Amino acid sequence: MFRLRADTPPAWGEAIAADFVSFLQDHGHNERKVANQALTLAQQNHRRVALVADMIELAQEELGHFKQVHDLLAARGHTIGQDKPDPYTGPLRKLLRKRDQNEYLLDRLILFSLIEARGCERFKIASEVLPEPELRDFYRELFACEARHHGLFLDHARTLFGRDVADARMDTMLDAEAEIVRGLPIRAALH
Ligand SMILES: [Fe+2]
Ligand SMILES: [Fe+2]
Repeated sequence: MFRLRADTPPAWGEAIAADFVSFLQDHGHNERKVANQALTLAQQNHRRVALVADMIELAQEELGHFKQVHDLLAARGHTIGQDKPDPYTGPLRKLLRKRDQNEYLLDRLILFSLIEARGCERFKIASEVLPEPELRDFYRELFACEARHHGLFLDHARTLFGRDVADARMDTMLDAEAEIVRGLPIRAALH
């Protein structure tokens, strides 16, 4: 398990507690997008059977999270809302090397691992600051899932490309992710 190199500031916890509906809506769309991306990885790497099997399972799990977030919102009289662009994923995706297929796959596995690790860090904060016990319990459960998903992507990267290559790329991308996180605006959204 790698440690993230920039901590989410306490002001973020205050922002999501003050407007948890916006936070839930944004979080819900993130779950949906991870499910989509897992299915895309499965489709593009159909010969890598172990990866495909794990991506199908992950997509099911993330879709389940999307439904849970949707249900929590609906029970409170809200919709899932519109998906809005976020200032985190775009800059992260710019780190992907696209010239070589293997490099591109490695970078995407590392990128997804980082996104899961950041989700893990932020859901832990959510589990401590949100106003309702039901929401705090929900984010405590998710926090454990994201820790597992972070490891899943990293394991695939190490299996497919070797531990040294995967860890070296992770090291570079951890620095870049930390830089992006330090520049994020504080808002009631996952990122
Ligand atoms: Fe999830
Ligand atoms: Fe996840």
